[in-house]
Amino acid sequence: MPAESPRHHDRIQIFPPARTGVPRAVARHRQACASAAADSPHRPLLCPEVLRCLHPAPGDVIVDATLGGGGHAAALLPLIAPGGHLVALDLDPQALEVATPRLQARAPSTVRVTTRHASFRDLSHAMQQCGVAQAQSLLVDLGISQMHLDDQSRGFHFTGVGPLDMRLDPSRGRTAAEWLASLDAPALAQLLEDHADEPHARLIAALLTRAPVTTSHALERHVRLGLEASGLALTRPEIKRSIRRTFQALRIAVNDELAALEALLRQLPDCLVPGGRVCILTFHSGEDRRVAAAFDEGRRHGVYSRVARTPIRSLKAETRADRRAAACKLRWAIRA
Ligand SMILES: C[S@@+](CC[C@H](N)C(=O)[O-])C[C@H]1O[C@@H](n2cnc3c(N)ncnc32)[C@H](O)[C@@H]1O
Repeated sequence: MPAESPRHHDRIQIFPPARTGVPRAVARHRQACASAAADSPHRPLLCPEVLRCLHPAPGDVIVDATLGGGGHAAALLPLIAPGGHLVALDLDPQALEVATPRLQARAPSTVRVTTRHASFRDLSHAMQQCGVAQAQSLLVDLGISQMHLDDQSRGFHFTGVGPLDMRLDPSRGRTAAEWLASLDAPALAQLLEDHADEPHARLIAALLTRAPVTTSHALERHVRLGLEASGLALTRPEIKRSIRRTFQALRIAVNDELAALEALLRQLPDCLVPGGRVCILTFHSGEDRRVAAAFDEGRRHGVYSRVARTPIRSLKAETRADRRAAACKLRWAIRA
């Protein structure tokens, strides 16, 4: 193991205490994460940190409310053997198709795996449908996975050529193209500010409401050419960041992500056993603000015994390997 840096020591202060009676297993956590990441279609971010916060033990019931490629879930599996139960949800049926067989193949013989197509907006109901009322640990890793970005046909990435869809559950709701067509410039500008803190929101909104935008390529092109011609003297990386934020804001709106997060935060305490732990990974200020506020309020009302005072962030090595890591914040709470 590399020598511990001063930053490492800072990080020790922001982790929750170890679970009573469960020995710390730092090396085992690292090994579980490395093994899970090796064949995962999505790199699980802050994986050893998540395991350290959740501190799983044999026999635990664990809920992964955002299964994705199953990276975090695969790392958790060996730690709840023998006798544990992993319940995993995802709103995207395609994610479940990829991750379910992978998890089942990796699960120790004594560990049960149940996956379900459901939104964490209905966490409590989805858990009950899986035969579980409360869990020892709960993980929520917000946003989309690498599989979404890689699939050009779904419209999540600005290099894509497909239709501007962006629905996590393609069987319901309006596509991003339909959303765009329904908004006027002030409403779209507000959305870009609220969901992505976009500094050029008004200009971009004006660009995108002039004519129908129906493909991800067209969305990228309109924003890029418009900002280049705007006279703002923006650099290419600045323009790229605005394009990314525009895609992010639309995706959040299409999937009603902030309302789903708020519904989840309200249900969380009832879904955890006393002493149970939750970890939430967020990727922008709108998400982090809501999680921090809900945890703080829970702490004030005695619902949580301890909550993260500051979020845990990725170390430089992880940020270099994965651009999403720079924005990622992990917050945890322990049920009273
Ligand atoms: C960042 S990925 C999770 C990656 C996963 N932790 C891993 O290690 O592979 C987020 C996942 O959450 C799913 N998701 C987003 N909103 C959801 C919701 N409301 N309910 C359930 N799943 C959701 C997305 O479809 C995506 O697969």
